[in-house]
Order: sequence, then structure tokens, then C-alpha cells
Amino acid sequence: MKQPKNLSQRIGALVRMEESEHGWRLIAENAVLEIAFWRETMVRVRAQKRDRAFDEISYAVVAEPEAVSALPEETQNLITFATDKLRLEVDKSALGLKFFDREARLLNADDPAFGISWMGTEVTNYKVLQDGERFIGMGEKNGGLDRRGSAYVHWNTDAFAYDGETDPLYTTTPFYIGVQEDRMYGIFLDNSYRSTFNFGASNERFASFSADDGDLNYYFIAGDTVAEIVSGYTWLTGRMELPPLWSLGYQQCRYSYYPDHKVLNVARSFREKSIPADVIYLDIHYMDAFKIFTWHPEHFPEPKKMISELREMGFHVVIIVDPGIKREEGYSAYESGQQEGQFVTYPDGTTFHGQVWPGWSAFPDFTRAEAREWWGKQFSIYVDAGVEGFWNDMNEPTAWGHSIPDLIEFHYEGDRATLKQARNVYGMQMSRATAEGVKQLMGGQRPFVLTRAAYSGIQRYSAVWTGDNVATDEHMLVGVRLVNSLGLAGVAFSGYDLSGFLGDCTPELFSRWVAIAAFSPFFRGHSMVNSRDSEPWSFGEVTETIARNYIALRYRLLPYIYSAFYEATQTGMPVARSLAFNTPFDPKIYAYPNEYRFGASILVAAVDSKHHLHKIYLPEGEWYDLLTDEYYPGGQELVVEANLEKLPLFVAAGAVLPMQSLVQHTDESPDATLELHVYAGGPVTEYIHYEDDGQTEDHLGGNYHRREIRHDPRARQIAFAPAAGEYPSHFSQVKVCWHGLNAAPTVSVNGASVGLGSAEDIKFIEPIPKFDPLGAPMGPPLIISVYTLTVPLVSRDLLFQY
Ligand code: NOJ
Repeated sequence: MKQPKNLSQRIGALVRMEESEHGWRLIAENAVLEIAFWRETMVRVRAQKRDRAFDEISYAVVAEPEAVSALPEETQNLITFATDKLRLEVDKSALGLKFFDREARLLNADDPAFGISWMGTEVTNYKVLQDGERFIGMGEKNGGLDRRGSAYVHWNTDAFAYDGETDPLYTTTPFYIGVQEDRMYGIFLDNSYRSTFNFGASNERFASFSADDGDLNYYFIAGDTVAEIVSGYTWLTGRMELPPLWSLGYQQCRYSYYPDHKVLNVARSFREKSIPADVIYLDIHYMDAFKIFTWHPEHFPEPKKMISELREMGFHVVIIVDPGIKREEGYSAYESGQQEGQFVTYPDGTTFHGQVWPGWSAFPDFTRAEAREWWGKQFSIYVDAGVEGFWNDMNEPTAWGHSIPDLIEFHYEGDRATLKQARNVYGMQMSRATAEGVKQLMGGQRPFVLTRAAYSGIQRYSAVWTGDNVATDEHMLVGVRLVNSLGLAGVAFSGYDLSGFLGDCTPELFSRWVAIAAFSPFFRGHSMVNSRDSEPWSFGEVTETIARNYIALRYRLLPYIYSAFYEATQTGMPVARSLAFNTPFDPKIYAYPNEYRFGASILVAAVDSKHHLHKIYLPEGEWYDLLTDEYYPGGQELVVEANLEKLPLFVAAGAVLPMQSLVQHTDESPDATLELHVYAGGPVTEYIHYEDDGQTEDHLGGNYHRREIRHDPRARQIAFAPAAGEYPSHFSQVKVCWHGLNAAPTVSVNGASVGLGSAEDIKFIEPIPKFDPLGAPMGPPLIISVYTLTVPLVSRDLLFQY
């Protein structure tokens, strides 16, 4: 008899309902639907055909359901589950779902005809595409801020030399936020098989998400703001830990710096040229024949000595690690991995080998706890030598030919799986194994971990960089968009290769790129073997000065940046924030995907290097040009002059922006004065200032310094709450710098009036000699006039009235 074809089959009508561990199972004609409220604002929806059990392993989710009461209420046609914040209606005839907010406004509805359907093993949820609905998020995905009209695939891919259209790229974070006229919701599909998202591409009826196999398994997240929804998503999938402070400085990479004296020379050049930097990288040439967990005997005969010389200069070392382990007799990593069964296998149990840098290689099975532990232990060779950062590459995973067979098998925490299920989590589990392993070895010091491939929840283990980009203006802006979008998907610590990995960067491009990258959470220059040198001094004197200026500005802003990272650890707020965080309902922002906030108060308009005049958008509110203090009302598009010396950077009125004195690296102590730049006008701003030792885990035991600084521009008050935590602040005095005042303020500090001197001229960047690389004369020096007052920074209440 002819087998029926795999036409779309939908879930069918309700047969019966029963209670399950955390919720309710609705048994339908063709499948089982499970509804479980995890929080008042979060529902988990699962569906699977009746003859298959649910997959219980998630690499993304770390939260446990809270005790929420959302008992079903039945009418003839509907079953309704509700909390105070979210209501879900399920229609009994076709098990279509409708979500409503607490004001009974529709957030999201299944397509009434084919809401949840299967084609073979592929499961899809079709959602009604609503009028004016926009879609943001999805992590490292090309395209605009609003993803409506586009479709995306999640299948971690080594996308060498990708362009502004390429999809998929390296990572999988299947989480998006649907934004309507005045409300929003989030959806996270936790299914690691290849998945596809369609936001009304090639159809006018639905937005859908599908997975090739496995369960329909998604979390519906309600919230009034993008920040609340991202906070819900990172409650579910975890938040980043505080990185070492040094990893927020400038990082210099190259494929590859070798031998050792060249590495030392690069480091020395930074110091000689007074360009601040904290990190130097060793790419694959540090290894012997590209064998991981080895040092090249001639190029790096004494790694410990080299690293200690670098440490004396204030540099930290990051090394690359690839998963491919060379098949070679007598090579201990291969032999022990093989003997202990740590590698990925074919279905007959023999080890799978693919070719990568070292030639034929085996791949550790990072979905197996023992293999993760085994991997982690190998890092003692690096940690003993003084390495503190670990860069996980090629972990999509990649093998030459780019066609690793789907049938290879993974342990998958005991629930054996093929590559189809394991691929998208492989890079994340490698990063986990690395992070967990090195932490064991580093005696309470924080490591820095970086990865190329990732799955949702990666923020718990690693920063992410966007792989092999190209030295073009287009790519520079693509990187900005990818980082903004990663931030919407819970990845707060991400960045791109400054100068472009492939191709030759130009002085103009580098000048612009370094200014933008100074406002990227992860700030690293990197370029391909055989491309031109791309260190900040490689493009002539003018570009070098521009680079020094912006790198120095980043170092001056470290108190602000570190506090932004602290916020990411607490709430999941990213460091680079798409404009959709603050003004999601303003349609104009969607035309400006290259703009973002860096931390709470700085707005960066990333613009290309080819033009001096740029149209930008300042969202609602009031703004000051960071470098000139010029005042702009928000809610307007405007054309700004942006020669290569001057990136369009703005500060929100009302902001408090802490800065420190310039240091050449983060081991160097800034002076004891915290500069607090305060901007007149705007709303009340509450800023959390955070400090700790920047290196260890001691902050977890209370060794931190945290205090709220509240600026009320109307009441003209700056209030420091008493400090919390045991760590003594590095700063013994605060210098308040008032921006945007027409006249000298009359100031009292804790009730005692204090006289102010006349306004002081300050500058955030140094003037550039004569002409920019395009031959355009530079503008006037960027000097700002501020009223200042320096007083002791007491740790009890401190109130400035001005
Ligand atoms: C690919 C990475 O994306 C790149 O950054 C690195 O330099 C090369 N592998 C060589 O390790």
C-alpha cells in the first residue's frame, strides 16, 4: 500500500486534559500539548506527537519553574489559564493558542487553521502576523533591526568572509520579541535542531518558527518593556558572570603573532606609543603542528617566561583553542581522549575524524560530562604558563569540506543524539567545558572566555565574537548590528574583529572603526594571516592619534563600562543596547539600526568612513554631543558633521557619567579622583556605581563596592546613597563636572555651601595634527567648558544641591 505523504498535519481537537508535573497536558487527536506557567509572566508551551515522549534535556534553560497558580478554566469552547499578568486561551477544537496581556489586549495568536503542525518530523508553530507588528532580536543575524519580511535559519556555520546577507552565521539564539503599536512579548524556541524563523517572508499571513525534529518547545514571555522581556529571557537562560576587568580593555590579536619576540615587540610598541592595551593573543601558530595543548618548541620555547614578561608590561595573554585534536600516535591529548572514549563517534562506535588545521582530527564530545571534565583538565599546560584567556574557535564544529556527516553521534547527557540535534549546542558546550575547566585551575581568578559558535545561554560561559568579517565599511556596520542584536538575545559581551579579519583595512576605515569599536562591549583588533598589519600604529600618524584618542576615551570610561557589565550580570541588560530598548514604539528608530546606546547614557551613531556628513536620528529626550557639549532636542533626524576625528556620540540629558584618569592598562591604578560628569535637564537618572577587585570571585562573598547615584535635574540634586559591600572604593574624592549649565551653580554639599571657581576647559580627545586621512581639515579643538567641584568621597550619604 502507498504510504501517506508528509503533508502538513495539525495537532487536532482536544480529547482530554490531565495535570502534569508543572502544568497541564492537553491530549489532542494527533499530538500532546503541554502548558506550564513558569512565572506570572512566562508560559512554557510544548507539543509533540502522541507516540513520542518530550525531550527533557535543555542546554539553554537553567531556571526552575516558580510556584504560579494558573488553574485552567473551561467553557464549552475554550480552556483559559491566567495569572495577574498574562492570560492564555486555548481553543478546544483546534488547540490554537491566544495570549493576552493583563489589560486583555491580544499579544499573540496561533493561525486558526494550522497553528501547530508537523510535516514529517518537522514541527512548526504558525502565528498570525498582526498589523504593524515588528520583530526584533534573534541574536547574530543579518538584516535590519525590524526583521519583518525576512526569514532566518539557525544552524551554526563557519561563515568565512560572510557578507551583510549571509545566513546562517555562527550562533543560534532562537529568541525574538514581537513589538506591536503599544505592547510586546518575547518567544524563545528551545530546540537545538536546525530551526527556521519566518517573520512574514514570502507570505502575508503568518510569522512562524519550526524545528527539523524534536519538540515544539517555546517560552512565551510577557513584559511591558524590552528590558523586562530580556530580563525574563536571561532569568530563564542565565546571565553572564563578571568578566575580569582587563578583558574590557583593548585587546590586540593577529593570525598569528610569532615567534615570542614578535609578541613581546607588539606589546612594547603599545607602551612606547602610549596606546592603552591590556591583552595580546596567540593564534594557532603558538602550537606545535597545530596540536592543541602544546607549545611550538622553537617559536615559544619558554612560554612562561614570555608571559611573565608580558605581565610585567601589564599584558594578559589569550590563546586560541580549537576542538579538533590531531590523530597522532604518541600525542597525549589524542591518546588519552581515544582511550577514555571522549570523542564523537560514528554509530558503530568508531571515532569520527575530520580534517582541520592539524590534519585528520578527532572531536571531543562536549555533550558528555566526563569529556568536558577531561577537556578542562588539559588546560593546566596553559594556566601553569600564566595564560588567563581562552578563545574557542572552529566550534560550529568545522571540518574542511564543511559537511560533517549528520549521522555522527553524541552522548547528549545520556540521551544519545546525532549531529542534527547536537551541532547547535556543540560550541556552547565546548565553551562551557573550557570555562569550567580553567576556573578549577585558576584558583579564584576570573578567566576570560571567548567563542565563535554558541547556543542560547552562552552568556553564562563566554563572550562571543562575530567571526571572519571583511575590511569594508559595510562590514564595520554589520558588526554593530550583530552586536546590538546579540544584546537583544541575552549576550551582553560581544564584539567583532576591528579592522576586518579578511582584506586590507585602509587608514580611513581603521580610523572610523577604532572609534566605533571603542564603544563595543568586546574591543579587539584582529586580522588574517597574510593581510596587512593592522595594529593601531600601522596606518600613519593621524590614524594612530585617532586610535589613541578613542582607546584612551574607553579607558577613561572604564568605571562606567564596568558598571554596565555589572548590570548585565544582575538583570541581563546588554552593554550595547539597540534603540529598541528605550523607544521600541518609535517607528523612526527602525531606520537607524546602526545606532545604539552604550551603557545607559551614551548614544553611538555608527557611521561609515567615506563621508563627513551623516544623517542620524536622536530619539525622544534631550541630548548633548559627548565631545563638544552641544545641546540637541531629541525626536529629530539631523545631519551631523563627522570627520574621522569625531564619531557622532551623544549623552542623554540627566545622565551621570563616571570617568577615571587615563591609564595604559587596567593593572595600573587611576588616580584617586572619580570624575562624575553630570548633564543638565532630562529625567531623573538612577545610576549604580560598582567596583570590586576586577580579578577574583571575591565579590560573590560581598567584597564589592556598590552605590546608587541619583540625579534629579529638576530638583538640581545629585544624591549618593551609602555604599554597600566590603570592598573599599578605589576613589577617595569625587570631582563633579556640570555640563549644560548656563551659569555657575551655587552648590551645597550635605547642606554646607561651597564656592565654585570659574568654568574649567576639559577635552575628552586630543586634537589631531592638521588633516584627517581623507585630506579634510579637522574641526576646531573639541573643548568643553564645565563647572567643577572636588570633594572627599565619603561612603555615607552625600548630597549635592546645585
Ligand atoms: C578562524 C577564526 O575565525 C579566526 O579569527 C582565526 O584567526 C583563524 N580561525 C585561525 O585560528
